[in-house]
This record gives sequence, structure tokens and C-alpha cells, in this order.
Amino acid sequence: MRNDAELLDHILSHIENGTTDLGDEEWLEPVENYASQARFEAERRLLRRIPVPFCPVAALPELGSYVARNSAGVPIVVVRDEQGTIRAFRNACRHRGMQLADGAGCTRIFRCNYHGWAYRLDGRLEYVPHEHGFPGLDKGNNGLVPVHSVEVQSGLVFVTQDEPVGRGALESLPNLLKDDQVVFDSNEKVEEVNWKLTAEATLEGYHIKSTHPESFFPYGYDNLNVVEMQGPNSRVCFPFRRIEKLRDAPRDHVSLDRMVTLVNRIFPFTSVTRLSQHYALSFAEPESPTRTRYFNYRLTLPAVEGEGVSDEALARAKKDVAFLSDTGDKEDAKVVSDIQAAIGSGANTHYRFGRFESAIGHLHRNLASYLARLEKREQGVVEQNNRI
Ligand code: FES
Ligand SMILES: [Fe+2]
Repeated sequence: MRNDAELLDHILSHIENGTTDLGDEEWLEPVENYASQARFEAERRLLRRIPVPFCPVAALPELGSYVARNSAGVPIVVVRDEQGTIRAFRNACRHRGMQLADGAGCTRIFRCNYHGWAYRLDGRLEYVPHEHGFPGLDKGNNGLVPVHSVEVQSGLVFVTQDEPVGRGALESLPNLLKDDQVVFDSNEKVEEVNWKLTAEATLEGYHIKSTHPESFFPYGYDNLNVVEMQGPNSRVCFPFRRIEKLRDAPRDHVSLDRMVTLVNRIFPFTSVTRLSQHYALSFAEPESPTRTRYFNYRLTLPAVEGEGVSDEALARAKKDVAFLSDTGDKEDAKVVSDIQAAIGSGANTHYRFGRFESAIGHLHRNLASYLARLEKREQGVVEQNNRI
């Protein structure tokens, strides 16, 4: 990925020449891939078998902070334990399976609401009321069940639930978040759409003029983007017109803060967007081919050296959120839900993504390749089982 100085020169040359980044070719994606139950299930199985972002590290600021939610339909709880280590467990009691944590919070112990079994933050089973009723129970062997692995990179917690079929986003991850960014808002939203339609709406600027004529377009350009790939991830840059003021700025320490919107697609279900005054993170949890639950977080910008997060910075961030929610976000949501409603129309066997929309082709190409790898691995297991 380019640094800010390189990005600036690249954008200015596009402005001068009336050009934009172009992919090598079009991409045709079968409409079937948005509608089929089998495809949806394969995507969910993949979600369990590659490292996928679960939440920002900033959502776990203290010892005992936890976030519990479904991932690929499996209840998972991620927690910062007493030593500060981030751990992830299947969110199910070892007695009779009750979920131990709900939503987000901070705790010293996970105590099951059903019969009171209690687990330490590192997963150990600590306490069983009336333990003499379980003569066969080995407490040492009945801690919370961890996921395959947890990794923290670029300010995100990645969870791999089961034996991985590849490194996914971690093949090569761009720099994303800094340690001093704090969560100032979070919510959970269900949309009656396929998750890929929402992702696609963020990954090209070809639609800015016609979909956002009064919200985004007056501040930006018509079809002018920088599209970069890193591993299966991508980053699409949407410059603001005010960037032209930087034409003669010395390049040594130039910063594009507040001059661009940067949409990072973290393969495949997550977006990390750097906006004018804040960062927006969205974690998709596909629930059916036509329904997706989103876990959204808003983070402050990285603090200016030595200043911490000021009240003014927070106020600017909130104003940014209000502007987006009232305008551009609604316009995009309408497009996405209208496409969803027409998916069964029979008009298209494929959707066509042009050379301006190459970040979308990149997402689909990598998803197809990972799904093929998953299928091969599953096929291998079936054959092995048949031989036994
Ligand atoms: S299910 Fe948790 S204590 Fe019984
Ligand atoms: Fe849009």
C-alpha cells in the first residue's frame, strides 16, 4: 500500500488527467452466489476456518473486558484475562451448555446464570455449587473450550474457530488501527440483505455522482479512486476535493488525514473505514442468504502526538457520524435493499463489475479460491473417513 505522500501524488495525477485506477479486466459474479443456500453455508463454514476479525482490540480496554456474539452461527466470547492476554472461547457452559456471557462488559469471573458454575477469565472451571453431586467430574478437564486460535494484529482481534484452511486476511494485513484509538459508539443491526451487496457498495466510487449527488459528490469526485490490494484484502481511497490544497505541500511529513476516505476490506467479512473525523468498523455475521447481522463500532482518530483524545475531537467525530447516517449511509442502504429485492427477478445470471470496480472482483476472486480450498479439504476428509 502507498504511503500518504505517494497516495497524494497518485491522486493529483488522476485529478490532472481525469483518470482513475483501472483493474485489468471485468469480473462476472453469478447471481446464484448471492441467493443459494449451499453457497451461504459454505461461506459460513469458511468463516470458521480462517482467521476473521471478531472485534477491535479497543473494545477490550481493561482486564476482564469481554465481547460475546455469534460468529458463523457459533456463540463465541472474547475476553482480556487477568494477565492481559486476549482469549476466545465457545460461549457455552460445560454443565448443560448455557451461554455464559451476553453482549459486552467487564467481569472478574464468568458465572453461569443457570446453576452457578463459575469460570476464571482464562477459562478454568473454578467453582461448582454442591460439587459432591458430580462424582465423575474432573474440574481440570472441564474449562471453557477455546477456539483454535486467537491473534491480535493491526488493532483487530482475529478468531480462527477450527483447523484453518489458510491465513485469510492475515496472508498480508495492512496497518489499520493505532493503540490510542477509542471506541465511542457501538451497535448491532440486522439488515435483510446478502452481506456481499453491502460490501460491494463500499468498494467503488463509480456510483458516487449518481447515488450521492448532494451528500458525497459535492465534496468528492466523479469516479476517481485509488484501488490497492494487499493479500486478499483491499483498500479503496475516495479523495475529497480539498486535497488539491496539498499540491505544493512538502512531501516529507505530508498527512492525508481528513483529505480522503479509506475503505479497507479485511477479507472477507469486515470493513475498516477511515473517515474524515473517525473510523467506522463493521463486522458482518451472515445469518442467511438474505439476512446479515452487523456489529458496528465507531472509533476516534489516532490522537495527535501527546494530546490524548480531546473533547473537541470527540465532538467532531460525532458530527461526522450524524452527517453520514442522515445522508450517504441511507442512500447506500436503499440501493442495497433494492438490489436484494430484485435478485430473484431473473434479469441477470451474472452481475458485471467493471474495471473501476476491481476491489469487488478481488473480493469475489479470493472468496471463490478460498471456498474451493475449503471444499477440497472437506472432500479429503470425507475420502479419508470412507477409507477407514
Ligand atoms: S448450565 Fe451452566 S451451571 Fe448448569
Ligand atoms: Fe455509496
